[in-house]
Amino acid sequence: MSTNPSRAELEAFWMPFTANRQFKANPRLLARAQGMHYWTPDGREILDGVSGLWCVNAGHGRKEITEAVSRQIATMEYAPPFQMGHPPAFELANKLVKITPPGLDHVFFTNSGSESVDTALKIAIAYHRVRGEASRQRLIGREKGYHGVGFGGISVGGMVNNRKFFGSLLPGVDHLRHTFDLEHNAFSRGIPQWGAHLADDLERLVALHDASTIAAVIVEPVAGSAGVILPPQGYLQRLRSICDKYGILLIFDEVITGFGRLGAPFGATYFGVTPDIITTAKGLTNGAVPMGAVFVRKEIYDTFMQGPEQAIELFHGYTYSGHPVACAAGLAAQEIYEREGLLTRGAKLAQQWEDAVHSLRDVPNVIDIRNVGLVAGIELEPRSGAPGARGFEALVRAFEKGILIRVTGDIVALSPPLIIEPKHIDQLVTTLREVLKTLD
Ligand SMILES: Cc1ncc(COP(=O)(O)O)c(C=O)c1O
Repeated sequence: MSTNPSRAELEAFWMPFTANRQFKANPRLLARAQGMHYWTPDGREILDGVSGLWCVNAGHGRKEITEAVSRQIATMEYAPPFQMGHPPAFELANKLVKITPPGLDHVFFTNSGSESVDTALKIAIAYHRVRGEASRQRLIGREKGYHGVGFGGISVGGMVNNRKFFGSLLPGVDHLRHTFDLEHNAFSRGIPQWGAHLADDLERLVALHDASTIAAVIVEPVAGSAGVILPPQGYLQRLRSICDKYGILLIFDEVITGFGRLGAPFGATYFGVTPDIITTAKGLTNGAVPMGAVFVRKEIYDTFMQGPEQAIELFHGYTYSGHPVACAAGLAAQEIYEREGLLTRGAKLAQQWEDAVHSLRDVPNVIDIRNVGLVAGIELEPRSGAPGARGFEALVRAFEKGILIRVTGDIVALSPPLIIEPKHIDQLVTTLREVLKTLD
């Protein structure tokens, strides 16, 4: 393909979560990546402000991952995961459970965040059935939640456009109210103080449905896709204790908060709240090969390990669960995280990051700035009658000016690779300021 492809060359690929016609008229193509940067086909350097899509935590072009993947593909490109095994899957599982919160010591492999979520929801329902409480089938998500795009994930998710086109979704799902509140929490630095009581909404749902019908609650510790929504101080602790009170499983969807994003290995570690199940993907392999992982408490795993020894305990799995090439990428990525201290590096940069992003407070149309670890959300006032237009323009102009950002509606999200240096933070924020100032 040429560096300047024609519209016809771009037509066949139906692009995901993309304004296809706008893109194909004005393509934003990336051709190469290294360290903190992408390059366009015509050689323009783009500073990566979002780790690709919240996944390239160790930065681009990591030689160790490339080599591990090439070695594995040359040795054994594929092995069946059902009733058979291969060493890299066990090695990766062993490595991962060393960094998970205490007690979450079993791993089920998937290929994406969406599959991790479906897997976690299925395990939760099946777990209650296996232990003799089959009436616990209801799943509780949260408004504004994003849990990928499978039917399970969009059912417990709470982003209206991801739900409204797709019929009646899963039955037996309800939602907690979200924790987004500009009136009380606008421009909070770090985790907002107001709002722990919002977790009590779970009491309302228990009163409505009865705990005996509820299998699990799933939330993102920090919601990314809806525009960086932070849990108020004490909120997750409260959710944990209400779940404990009623025997409800708590699932943290850590597809973006996993692997160092908040300055700790997991959101659970950062907030000091241990859920029963954690879903991950993205940073697991540094984005190099698709892979997801679901971590469960020993007690959940053990509950399934009963009946005749030769009987399959969980009728679930994917052709590519624990794919050898993905495992090789995962092992290499985890070694880099460990060697370079990347899972906690965000904590060291968090203050500087916070100061930098909050310096945008005086920019016209900025109505809120939220931050935690190496994440920020900068919310713009929507144009009257055209929600999302200002945000979309910000994305396009930022790319023209050499930075990659992400927007959800009118919220700009930043989540740079964890190898970011102070000079990159300056460049990102200075360029973003220039971009936002040009928007009417
Ligand atoms: C919290 C959360 N869950 C699930 C997903 C879905 O992951 P995937 O796109 O790999 O299916 C995402 C993706 O952004 C996410 O942020």
